[in-house]
Order: sequence, then structure tokens, then C-alpha cells
Amino acid sequence: MKKLILALSFFAIPFLLFAQQKSTEVKLYKNKNASIQDRINDLLKRMTIEEKAGQLNQLNGGNFTGPAANDAGQKAKMQMVREGKVGSFLNVTGAIETKAAQKVAVEESRLGIPLLFAFDVIHGYKTIFPIPLAEACSWDIPQIEKNSSIAAKEAAAAGLHWTFAPMCDISNDPRWGRVMEGAGEDTYYGAVVAAARVKGLQGNLNDDAHILSTVKHFAVYGAVEAGREYNNVDVSRFSLWNKYLPPYKAAIDAGAATVMNSFNVFEGVPASGNKYLVKDVLLNKWKFKGFVVSDWSSFSEMINHGYAANGKDAAYKAISAGSMMDMESKVMIENLPQLVKEGKISIQEVDNAVQRILYYKFKLGLFDEPYKFSDEQREAATELSKENRAEARKAADASIVLLKNDHHALPISSSIKKIALIGYYAKSKEDLFDFWIANGSANDAITIYDGLKNKYGNAIEYSQGYNADATTNDELINAAVQSASSSDIVLVNIGISGKMAGEDRALAYPEIPESQIQLLKALQKTGKPIVALVSSGRPLILTKIQLLVSSIVQCWILGTETGNAVADVLSGDYNPSAKTVMSFPYAIGQIPVYYNHFNTNRPLPTDNDGNWYSRYRDIPNAPLFPFGFGLSYTNYEYSNLQINKTAIRSSDELIVKVTVANSGKFDGEEIVQLYIRDVTASLIRPVKELKSFQKIKLKAAEVKEVIFKLTSKDLSFYDSNGILHLEPGAFKVFVGGNSEHVLEKDFIVQ
Ligand code: BGC
Repeated sequence: MKKLILALSFFAIPFLLFAQQKSTEVKLYKNKNASIQDRINDLLKRMTIEEKAGQLNQLNGGNFTGPAANDAGQKAKMQMVREGKVGSFLNVTGAIETKAAQKVAVEESRLGIPLLFAFDVIHGYKTIFPIPLAEACSWDIPQIEKNSSIAAKEAAAAGLHWTFAPMCDISNDPRWGRVMEGAGEDTYYGAVVAAARVKGLQGNLNDDAHILSTVKHFAVYGAVEAGREYNNVDVSRFSLWNKYLPPYKAAIDAGAATVMNSFNVFEGVPASGNKYLVKDVLLNKWKFKGFVVSDWSSFSEMINHGYAANGKDAAYKAISAGSMMDMESKVMIENLPQLVKEGKISIQEVDNAVQRILYYKFKLGLFDEPYKFSDEQREAATELSKENRAEARKAADASIVLLKNDHHALPISSSIKKIALIGYYAKSKEDLFDFWIANGSANDAITIYDGLKNKYGNAIEYSQGYNADATTNDELINAAVQSASSSDIVLVNIGISGKMAGEDRALAYPEIPESQIQLLKALQKTGKPIVALVSSGRPLILTKIQLLVSSIVQCWILGTETGNAVADVLSGDYNPSAKTVMSFPYAIGQIPVYYNHFNTNRPLPTDNDGNWYSRYRDIPNAPLFPFGFGLSYTNYEYSNLQINKTAIRSSDELIVKVTVANSGKFDGEEIVQLYIRDVTASLIRPVKELKSFQKIKLKAAEVKEVIFKLTSKDLSFYDSNGILHLEPGAFKVFVGGNSEHVLEKDFIVQ
């Protein structure tokens, strides 16, 4: 008996030890000290195909606490989280909400995989910065990066991990409401800005103040026909490579974690199911290591395109093309397990997608500290802080473009006694902001009226001039004229409501409403200097109004500090330095009009004389205000353009020097722009292409020499397969203060 007990214990002890060890074993994927790759591999081994499909499923969230906790739809979403069927939410915001949802994922799901919370933080989270198009007009790359980093910091404190920005779509069509979200019409500049925005948002992704960025909309969404949202796109691979892809690529090279499919087709195939765009270019050629997310329902919308037969077919086509996370169309969660069981999609394909998403969950530290972003205290301390507002004001100052300033009507002279401020929008908080304001509130914002009152107090006399719907009547016009007649200067806020900027805000008439023109005509008769303050999320047609006013100040949509920034510029406390990054068309029929067009077989001679040229018979070919144009209260004079060689080899650098003098009375900042032209090439090149710029400070009467270096990359272009070429032959280099007025030199590449 004793022997039997001994023998049993001989076997039982190791068994018990083993059992005990097993129950305390830390799963490798939960082990902080293991490498991310080992943790991912361990987790993948443990996941069912349903849980893997869950990681590819992003749902629109909303609130989960308070009354929403009892909502049947919200409860169903939480149940899916418990079952591991959701990997990410969009539109769940705030430390409280994100923490509540995260708790269910981490504590109640089988594997405890944390959720990623995403939101459209496009130009600020609580402190709203100028719209991206306006911000880009500053050409101030460090400031642009800072703006994004503040947006990230505020968002991160509110539990967010990820924003759907920057939009890197090149567009030259102001009918498209989304031009407000980009960096304008130029490819090179778009690339520089895209990289800065990614860096600002992401930092090194190793703290709790930065978030994942998204390069969107991949690809060519800015080319929607006639500027109509969600419309068809038809561009060649030649244009794809040369005009549209470089900004997306620059953002990816800057480290962007995610890329969003666009809604449009490319070569007849929706971007979400487009193997050429996603697999061939993004994943294979560019070796993108992050993950791809659809645009809202863009997987299932392949059915509407007429490309997928049903949800299952859409899921199959999306993942086969290399696309990954499904935003809101639910075709992945509903069909992927079955597609794998049927052998249509390999588990390797699924794992490849899932592991990229898991990587960022590990990288952000969410497995170890799932609530680190949802910090109520930090949220309260960060949002709308004094410092953030100060940066937003700086950014807004630098975004305002002075388009016209006859007889130095601006800055407002300090001897002025009475200022007429006219315009419904100047006082309307409702019209101040665009569609993409994250969790910002117009109640926190300074209107133009508020800003001018802050600066000028009782010298400001306000009248409405037109109505909320941009109509007007005799009574409103007469009151405005009366106020103008007794004032020294007349400021008129015209344009269109901020609400008309953003997604699904296409306009057939991007112009100043007729009622406002009527108002300006009446005001003009007073003989007072009239300053038009144009609010809009896109370049409007200003051709008629420019004849009626002394000055035009393009105010775009400037965010929380709008009014203070406008007052800074009008008073001369800030000398305007911005230059437009989109051409202002002369007329609607001219759209799209852009500086980097091709020469054509029949270029119009500069004297406009003769027949059979590429031209309009009723308007000029040139836009009203060209790309890169913007005035200052001072004047800059360009002279002495020099190049170090007139013939270079492809390995040489070309050194370009120019002298810039501030010949006016104000200190200022000038944006010095360098363009090139490849005169003859195997694929035609634009008449001008921006290749470099510098924003320099010049005190009154100061003269500076500005030096640029051009490399072979700057002189190269892509063929239709995405291969970069530098071809020998004649080139031109231009330097100036905008794309039209430049000095020029010729050189040869041998
Ligand atoms: C837009 C995207 C946006 C997404 C999520 C879509 O309709 O096209 O730019 O990020 O919605 O809100």
C-alpha cells in the first residue's frame, strides 16, 4: 500500500506541478517583453477565423454609456465586441465612451484583443485649425506639422488612436466640396504637405500624444468628373503616376500607418477591388507595411458600381485585391469565414491582413495599457488649451491670402474712427465651420465680428447686408449703405457658408451669390474703400466682385480663432504672407484651370493675337489669380537669377540663386517659388512644375540671396509603369513670387 502511494505520488507530483504551471502561464501575446512579431504569431495561432474576420470589421460606433447603453442597436454592437467580431470603431469619442467600449473588448471577449478607435480629425479635434486647403496656403511646413500634432494630442487624450487624415488627393476642381480637405492643385507641394501632416499626427507612435494617420483616398479621388462627389474617374496611368500618386507616396514614406481605398474606379475597377492599385502598386511596388481600410461601405458599394454581384463577392474581390479592413459594410465579417472554408481565400491572405492591424494595436501599447489613451484628466487639460488656441491663431494668420489691395486700403489706418462691418456670415457661428470639425464647437470660436470687436471696440458698426440664405432686400442694403456712408472703411464679409464645404458639398456654381454682388454694387457708390472678406472652403469665382472692391482678403474657413486672425491681418498686426495653392478660376466654364497645364499643339501667344489657338473666345485662358499668388503689405522684388552651370550631367546638382528685396515699408515673409520645365521629352511635360520653395523673413528694405539646389530627381518624370526617367535635353528654371511672374534661365541636361 505504502509502495502504491509512493509510486502514485512519484507520477502525481510532476503532473500537479505541470498543471499548476499551465494555469499561471502568461500567454506569449500578453507578454510585454516578447517581440511584437512573436506576440502576433502567438495570437494568430489562437484566433478562430471568425475572430480574424472580426479584426477586419470596423463599425460605426456612437455612444455606449448613459441612455445609449439600453439601445438595442448599441447593445448588439457590444455583443459583437464580446464575441470578438469587431476590431475597430469609428465615431466613438471621448475618454469615457472609448474606455467603456474598450473594457468590453479587453475584459469580456475571449482573447481580450483591444479595439482601435478612429475618427475624422481633419483639422483639429476640439481646437479647430484652418481647413487643410487654407493651412496649405501658409507654405509653412513646420507650422503645418505642429497643427497636426496638436490635433493628434487632443484626439489621443479623448481615447482616439487613429484619424482618417491626411487627404492627399490632388484636385483642381473647386466644384468639388472636398478640395477644402487637401493641399491644392500641385503634386510636389501636395507631397511635401502630406508628409508633414503624417509626421505631425504620428510622431514616432511611441507615446500617448500621437495617433495613426490615414493616407486617403487611394487613389485619384480628386479627379471625380465635374467635381461631383462619388462620381466617375477616368485618368491614364501617365497622369496617375505623375500627377496623382506622389502625395500618397510621400505620406507613406513619412510612415503613415494606414491607407484608405477611394470610392471611385480606376480603369473601370473600383479602388477597393483594384488589384493594380492595392496589390501591385501599394503593397508590392511601394512595400507598404501598414494596413488598408475601406472608405465608408466602399466594399459593399462595389455592388452599385456593377463590379461585385453581392456581399460575398464584394468581400472576395476586396481581399483578393489586397484591401483589408471593412469600414461599416460588414461584408467581411459576414462572408470571410465562409470564403476561407470554401478555399476561395487562403488563410495566409487573411493572416497577412490581420497581423498588420494587430501590429498597430501592439505598437500603440494597447495590449499592455488598453486605456492609456482614454484619460479624462488629460482630455480636459489638453482640449482647447491656451497654447493650442495660440497655435490655431498663428496658423490662421498665416492662411489668409490677400488677393487684391488697391491704393493700400489695408492695413486699416490707425487714425480711422469708424469701421462698417457688413455681412450675415461675419456674426453667424452656424456658418463659420465646415462639415469636418471633429468634436469642435462653433460656440468656442471667435467670429469675424467678435475678432474685430476685440480689436476695434466701438469703432465697429455692424449691419447684416444679406440673409442667412444669402438673399437680400432693399431694407438690408439701405442699412448697410447708410453705415458705410458714415464710416472710414467698409469691410464686407461675403462668400458662402462653411456648411457648404466638405463631403457631399459639390457646387455647380462656386461663385459669389448674386445678392452679395448687388450689395457690393450699392456699397461701391458710397465711394468708400471697400474690403471684401471672402469666406469659403474653395476658390470662388471673384471676377465680378474684384471690380467692385479695393481689397480682397481670402479668409477661407479659419477655425476656432477666425475672427482674431482676420483682425490681425486687417490691422496689420500680421502682414499677410499666404499664397493660394489653388488657382482662382476666371469663370466656371474654365474649370479645371491649373498652372501646371500642358503646352498643347496651339499655345496662345502672349499678345493674344491671331486665330486657331487653344483659347476661349469670351474669357482669358489664365485664371483670375494663379497658383502661388498672394500679396503682402510690403513689396518683394526679384532680380539676378543665376545658375551655376548651363549644362549639367545627370549626377550633377544645379545651384540656382536669386536676389529678393523687400522694397516696401513693412517687415514680412515671402514664399519664394522655383519651377522647372522639361522642354522636350518622350512624354510631354507641363509648362511649369513647382520643384522647391522657401518661406523667408525679410525686414523692410532687407535684401537676401536665396539658394536652391536641384537634383536629377527634381528633373525626372514617371512613365506609365511608374518608372522614373531623366531624359537629356533642354530645361528651363523659373523663380518668382507666384507661378505666373517669374525670372527664367535655360540649361541643358547632357
Ligand atoms: C469619407 C472619408 C471618411 C469616412 C469616415 C467617408 O464618407 O469619404 O473621407 O474618412 O467617410 O467618416
